[in-house]
Amino acid sequence: MKLNIALLAGDGIGPEVIDQAVKVCDAVATKFNHEITWKPALTGAAAIDAVGEPYPDDTHEVCSNADAVLFGAIGHPRFDNDPSAKVRPEQGLLKMRQKLGLFANVRPTFTFPSLIDKSPLKRERIEGTDLIILRELTGGIYFGERGRKDSGDTAFDTMTYERHEIKRLAQKGFEMAMKRSKKLCCVDKANVLESSRLWRETVQAMEKDYPEVEVSYEFVDAVAMRLVQWPSAYDVMITANLFGDILTDEASVISGSMGLMPSSSVGSKVSLYEPIHGSYPQAAGKDIANPLATVLSAAMLFEDMNLTEEAKVIRDVVNKSLAEGIVTEDLSEDGKAYKTSEVGDWLAKNI
Ligand code: IPM
Ligand code: MN
Repeated sequence: MKLNIALLAGDGIGPEVIDQAVKVCDAVATKFNHEITWKPALTGAAAIDAVGEPYPDDTHEVCSNADAVLFGAIGHPRFDNDPSAKVRPEQGLLKMRQKLGLFANVRPTFTFPSLIDKSPLKRERIEGTDLIILRELTGGIYFGERGRKDSGDTAFDTMTYERHEIKRLAQKGFEMAMKRSKKLCCVDKANVLESSRLWRETVQAMEKDYPEVEVSYEFVDAVAMRLVQWPSAYDVMITANLFGDILTDEASVISGSMGLMPSSSVGSKVSLYEPIHGSYPQAAGKDIANPLATVLSAAMLFEDMNLTEEAKVIRDVVNKSLAEGIVTEDLSEDGKAYKTSEVGDWLAKNI
């Protein structure tokens, strides 16, 4: 198969972890006789520095014409500490999600048997955890009206949802639930927010189309608590943009390190694959970041292309590296840590 993949390394540790995923994908391509053409393009602070824009038109062109997008991370501390900055790297990510129509963000949380004692939670709480948070990605408070009034002394952000936005996300949730344990949890704040009441109304109306799916409705504050108490109680969860942003960071540490969880963003033609962790600027350029989340994101990419065997080979080699202790410092015991690039080399060699 010929694959054309847009490669958006971005900021911070993005370029380092992306390099490792490329090594692994190239090894998979050799093994299975595929031909991957990588199309690098600029995003984030790197793009602002080069062309003054975090998601330039050229980059959008490259992404639109690709079969998939592999993405590293976005963000730079020099913008975080400057509230007056006119252009921010994160705007690039939001623009990209919107322009590529990536309305559903698929963020799984699962455990690795060899890492179960690395989790901040007790073994008996997390064993068997295998859940997916389906986060709405192109609507809600991220894209609603915002601004200042009263000479700048009042600020507002608006959470707006249209029925069709909820419906298309929920449909993905129902379909995913049908392929898994047929359990779907709608996470909202319907006891307070009108937009959440529309979520509930919309999802309830869809239940009849999926009679086999058992749907539950829970408030986001309670879910935040139950997610660390009994994560294995959940399977597929659907939620609004901001709630999903918060819950997926919370869920990502259940596995033992934030450096492990992959994600995909889907919606229209082209899908995007990226690690859940951010740009981790403190580690940038040090060759210490964990590349596994990005490598596992590449496995999701192959899976979505119906290249199931290829995806499995990647997951197997990741499990092997964990079991054999070929890990970066976030996971290492007794000081024996490998560099980002060494983990990548090892994975590629063992494919
Ligand atoms: C994420 C990130 C982004 C988000 C930021 C960088 C805009 O936190 O992908 O979860 O809030 O969506
Ligand atoms: Mn986030």
